[in-house]
Amino acid sequence: MNILEIKNLTLKKDNRILLDNINIEIWAGYVHAIVGPNGAGKSTLANTIMGLSGYRDFSGDILYEGRSIKNLSIDERARLGITLVFQEPARFEGLPVDDFILAGVKDKKTNLIDEALLKVGLDPIKYRQRSVDKTLSGGERKRIELASIYAMKPKLVFLDEPDSGVDIDSVKYIFEIIKEFKKNGTTVILVTHSQEVLKQSDHGFLLCAGKLICKGEVNKLFEYFTGKCAPCNHVGKPDKE
Ligand SMILES: Nc1ncnc2c1ncn2[C@@H]1O[C@H](COP(=O)(O)OP(=O)(O)O)[C@@H](O)[C@H]1O
Ligand SMILES: [Mg+2]
Repeated sequence: MNILEIKNLTLKKDNRILLDNINIEIWAGYVHAIVGPNGAGKSTLANTIMGLSGYRDFSGDILYEGRSIKNLSIDERARLGITLVFQEPARFEGLPVDDFILAGVKDKKTNLIDEALLKVGLDPIKYRQRSVDKTLSGGERKRIELASIYAMKPKLVFLDEPDSGVDIDSVKYIFEIIKEFKKNGTTVILVTHSQEVLKQSDHGFLLCAGKLICKGEVNKLFEYFTGKCAPCNHVGKPDKE
């Protein structure tokens, strides 16, 4: 079953085509990756599916569980169970960790806070005292964000560059929590230009210059990383990162 279907999605900005006739099916219950070089349009696609302002004026359609969500607000999409974790932390600066983790949870059981923190390898005794602010490292902050998603149990979550600005130890826990999301029945879409993150997924989509170049099993997409460029006709500088 497809939880999400993108149909002929084209997004233009300032006379530039940012997303060019994208067609994607996201199977429920799997971990998917959207990969591609910097500037390919990966975050733009995630932002468009989430319905962020500036990304709402597109042609084509977005079906979620079979119905169009094109005209729904971000909040309405979130209420249907769609969540986006931004590359840069964005939500609720200064909130106590407890409140942060339970913010999106209906049934606010406090033992869920401990469970969620332990899942991302953070000691509840230490971290429940803290606030979500600049005193946390990038890795701690990301792990607490992902603990909040774990507690929320959304149906679909986008993680935009989940390893960005995060220490190696935290990356290990981030990869663990991705497996937990899948166990809980959450469909995951990893937005990434990292080979290591791609390895965490079952299935992927390769974007270059706003176009979908190929889709399929993860192994199929490794060609892009080994060749340092997408196998496409795009005339431009190969991504040498
Ligand atoms: N709101 C916007 N207005 C104008 N251009 C944008 C906007 N958002 C993204 N872009 C452009 O779209 C292209 C793709 O960006 P992005 O989706 O962030 O790439 P990626 O996430 O793959 O690195 C870039 O050239 C970027 O400047
Ligand atoms: Mg991006």
